[in-house]
Amino acid sequence: MAPKSIAVLTSGGDAPGMNAAIRAVTRSALFRGWQVYGVRHGYTGLIEGIFEQFTARSVGGIIQQGGTLLGSARCEEFMTEDGRLRALRELAQHGVDGLVVIGGNGSQSGAYCLSQMGFPVVGVASTIDNDLVGSDITIGVDTALNVALEAIDRLKITASSHERAFLVEVMGRKSGYLALMAGIAGGAEIVIIPEIEMPPEKVAEELSRAYTLGKGHALGVVAEGAQHDAHSLVAYFKEHHARIGFDVRVTTLGHVQRGGAPTAYDRILATRLGAGAVAALARGESGVVVGVIRNEVASTPLSEVVGKQKPISPELFELAHIMNQ
Ligand code: F6P
Repeated sequence: MAPKSIAVLTSGGDAPGMNAAIRAVTRSALFRGWQVYGVRHGYTGLIEGIFEQFTARSVGGIIQQGGTLLGSARCEEFMTEDGRLRALRELAQHGVDGLVVIGGNGSQSGAYCLSQMGFPVVGVASTIDNDLVGSDITIGVDTALNVALEAIDRLKITASSHERAFLVEVMGRKSGYLALMAGIAGGAEIVIIPEIEMPPEKVAEELSRAYTLGKGHALGVVAEGAQHDAHSLVAYFKEHHARIGFDVRVTTLGHVQRGGAPTAYDRILATRLGAGAVAALARGESGVVVGVIRNEVASTPLSEVVGKQKPISPELFELAHIMNQ
């Protein structure tokens, strides 16, 4: 049965485009004549009953803004059954009979648990990491990638002026997607990611090779979760300076990648997925995540999503290496 009143929340790390998704959920639901509540601070607000009834105006002027107007959190209490029961009580008290959860892996695990308790929940695939099964690309990735790319382009200019070697550390505790794509698009000499073992000596070899090939700079992109992160690589270069012959400098982009205005791609993706989540609830679906698969909006059961990590493409990793000549 289709719900008549839904709530929407954002959870986990914010991603540019979350606001566009909140707007799309709200306006699609209002269009169907449903009521909509925005829940503040992710699952924490669900447990504590921090709900606000939304009109179309509540979500006006936000499509171009990064971050999330609802606020986000990583909520430990929601991981307990007691926390989830409190959330169910708050939903019932507000007369809400459907929930949309906009977020990545951890957030969708919470959505799955709630749906297993019998409450209708639909997820929207949103994380800059692009590691969520159920969507070829997730909300926020395109913007984060473009932020990383701008930094890489700038670093290459200063690196070339001084014939220096740089490592750029991008986000991704478990996933190397951002690093790999930023490496391909930014023309990096090497990409260092959690999924593929990369000994420091190999990093030194690849960066040295850039000079042998006559390049004026050498640049590596490192994911924060790589076995040898940027700082341990710097230490390795320092320790072996006499043999390697040069040092590396590190720029850590960190949370800068999560801020900023969403790109056109992220705004459109978020709008499609937010509307898709409402359509899924209207069809009576629950316990699914809405993503984009081969450019079509599609639902995937959360049972096939939670606890999994979307693998990176070995072909793309190989491509990054082939381009390094
Ligand atoms: O999950 C998105 C992400 O930005 C990861 O890339 C990063 O490792 C993590 O969140 C950082 O989390 P926090 O903002 O809680 O430090």
